[in-house]
Amino acid sequence: MYCQPLPAQTTSPTSVRSTATVRSSLSDAASEKKVEALLQKMTLEEKVGQLVQYSAGQPTGPGTGRSDYDDMIRKGEVGALFNITTAHNINAYQRIAVEQSRLHVPLIFGLDVIHGFRTEFPIPLGLASSWDPELIERTARVAAREASASGIRWTFSPMVDIARDARWGRITEGSGEDPYLGAAMARAYVRGYQGARLDATDSIAACAKHYVGYGAAEGGRDYNAVELSVHTLRQFYLPPFHAAVDAGTATLMSAFNSLNGVPASANPFTLKQILRKEWGFQGLVDSDYTAVAELVAHGVASDGSTAARKAFLAGVDMDMVSSLYHENLAQVVLSGEVPETAVDEAVRRVLRVKFALGLFEHPYADETREAGAMLQPESLSLARTAAERSLVLLKNASFSGGAPVLPLSNEARTIALIGPLADDPYNMPGSSSAQGRSEDVITLRMALIQRVGADRVRFAKGTDILGGSEEQFAEALKTAEQSDVVILALGENAPEMTGEAASRAYLGLPGRQQQLLEKIVATGKPVVLLLFSGRPLTLPWAFERVPAVLAAWFPGVQAGPALVRTIFGEANPSGKLAVSWPRSVGQEPLYYNALNTGRPSGNIDLTHPPKNGDEKYISRYIDEQNSPQFPFGYGLSYTDYRYGNLQIDKTQLSAKALNDELHGGERGVGTAINVSAEITNTGTRAGEETVQLYVRLRGTSVAQPVRALSGFQRVALAPGETRKVTFALGAEAFAFWNDQNRFSVEPARVTLWVSPDSSRGPEATLQITK
Ligand code: BGC
Repeated sequence: MYCQPLPAQTTSPTSVRSTATVRSSLSDAASEKKVEALLQKMTLEEKVGQLVQYSAGQPTGPGTGRSDYDDMIRKGEVGALFNITTAHNINAYQRIAVEQSRLHVPLIFGLDVIHGFRTEFPIPLGLASSWDPELIERTARVAAREASASGIRWTFSPMVDIARDARWGRITEGSGEDPYLGAAMARAYVRGYQGARLDATDSIAACAKHYVGYGAAEGGRDYNAVELSVHTLRQFYLPPFHAAVDAGTATLMSAFNSLNGVPASANPFTLKQILRKEWGFQGLVDSDYTAVAELVAHGVASDGSTAARKAFLAGVDMDMVSSLYHENLAQVVLSGEVPETAVDEAVRRVLRVKFALGLFEHPYADETREAGAMLQPESLSLARTAAERSLVLLKNASFSGGAPVLPLSNEARTIALIGPLADDPYNMPGSSSAQGRSEDVITLRMALIQRVGADRVRFAKGTDILGGSEEQFAEALKTAEQSDVVILALGENAPEMTGEAASRAYLGLPGRQQQLLEKIVATGKPVVLLLFSGRPLTLPWAFERVPAVLAAWFPGVQAGPALVRTIFGEANPSGKLAVSWPRSVGQEPLYYNALNTGRPSGNIDLTHPPKNGDEKYISRYIDEQNSPQFPFGYGLSYTDYRYGNLQIDKTQLSAKALNDELHGGERGVGTAINVSAEITNTGTRAGEETVQLYVRLRGTSVAQPVRALSGFQRVALAPGETRKVTFALGAEAFAFWNDQNRFSVEPARVTLWVSPDSSRGPEATLQITK
């Protein structure tokens, strides 16, 4: 299971870069001397200035009412700005810092570059559905290249929050519910953004956020309180952060939420004990937007000065937006409440990042490079590949007894394209889309017309995402009736219904879209439903009645080409869910790696409520299954795969030997066991399958999940081809945070699965003895 140390890398060796590069470039001897020399010259106010950050562009949260940035920069009162775009605007601020402030310290410019800068890739939850860290790394590299050309050298990404609740709007921004997959993705993003060297002009500093527990907001309501036991925190929520630190992330962002009563932005246990002491993180900790000021609303500080002191002493180096460091930090140093040595240490961290990025040598963005860096052909082709790999085929049945509906054959003469998202360039980039523009998007309608010709495509919007009219319905029905097949594009509005401050209590189709869906299905035409959403949607009716359903998420600028290639079978879907897909909202939070409980329940017949004790008193709902609509790891293809011949090369392991490996040697070194299985493509099309390895431990001091992902590999298989896939599991695959508060292996009975998703697959068992 996963905790510390981290799970072994699952990416190919070529994409695994030594983390030592970035670590040492944050603290190499030559720049360390420069940092010290600069620190010696700084007044207390100038030191505090390095710890102050403001949003000087389009705000991404509550405003501060400040606009006197030029003056503050000149006086050395600000160390970082964000939300400014264009190299020209950034250079203008930088010029003030470098040419007019006393010590000429450059500013660092940040932005939320989450899934692309100008070339928008699919939303992160979609990217995670590719289960392809190397692909994610390449998308992050493109984002870094474009952002840096605009003068942005710091992204507030990756968001590595584990999210088990689809109500939470920000589930869209992360890699889903699993710590092992999340850790692999975290490493990939960091490698992509930071490249081989941070001081390369096309590299940007990463920021792993939101540390920590933000995704576990109670009720899925954004910013809500979080309660997590220490072992849940350690085993499920921390690993992706640890992975990001291990991959050398230069910065990290402290979260808004309280964690077991103590706000994450004033939490010495997570920020000092775990992050600095246990993990040895040397980079910079930035607060989230006004999180320092929010300590007052949380109720752990009665005024701004106390909030600043508490956040700072807990380990938050830089204050994003709240202005409380700006206004109070020097004062609390002078009054003796905060030692100046602590301020010096925080300033060192800021300066190290600036030196590491080469900002002292090259403070300005090359304005001539900017335009040419955007939307390059290779970037767009990567955007198409990423979009194709993010699509998850949820259902693909036959319509009238023949072959499955997808892929569409060229024989369909006329295609009805219906729905508010069928020709919607505005929503395709998804939320948090940096400099993404609707004019860069190729919509489904555009791509479909290009593929089959305008005479074969009949388009009707059908309804709006929210709202709509009877006339729109009537037009859509007519369009459907006159066509051979219907492609229906339904879903959410990305900026308003997904992302920050966009939690939902209902997870159905918004507006009148469900009505439209039912009317279209009632025409008796074969329907392909494309779902555009930032989260799983609860659509039991659709999953029962519509023959083909594809989760498209928000696919980015190349939405249309990726979808059309997939619909016609030029691309074979290979995405697998990074989150459990609920049947109904009442099941949330819903996650596959749950505990079994003392009274576990399988699927039950809801039409015959159990009457007697054995059946009644079990952990279940009386009106819903426990199981998800689609399990974590699930995704269909146009071909079929058979899993067989599961083999393990040992049936006994010793806990002592595993613990020696765990605590003695380097991370991930030493192989305890090889697990292999044969995967056969039994269909008629080539495909790529993500083969997953799960572990269950029984007999341990702390109950362990019914399954935990401990490995995955993508394999390409030609029709009829069989491949043996082998997983080498080290001690960490069997270790967990135990009742002694230690990361350790205990004697246990182990079940292993090699499977296409988290709900099935062949299994083997082994014993861990003392
Ligand atoms: C979000 C962060 C983001 C920051 C800056 C906050 O509201 O929580 O994820 O990086 O704003 O835009």
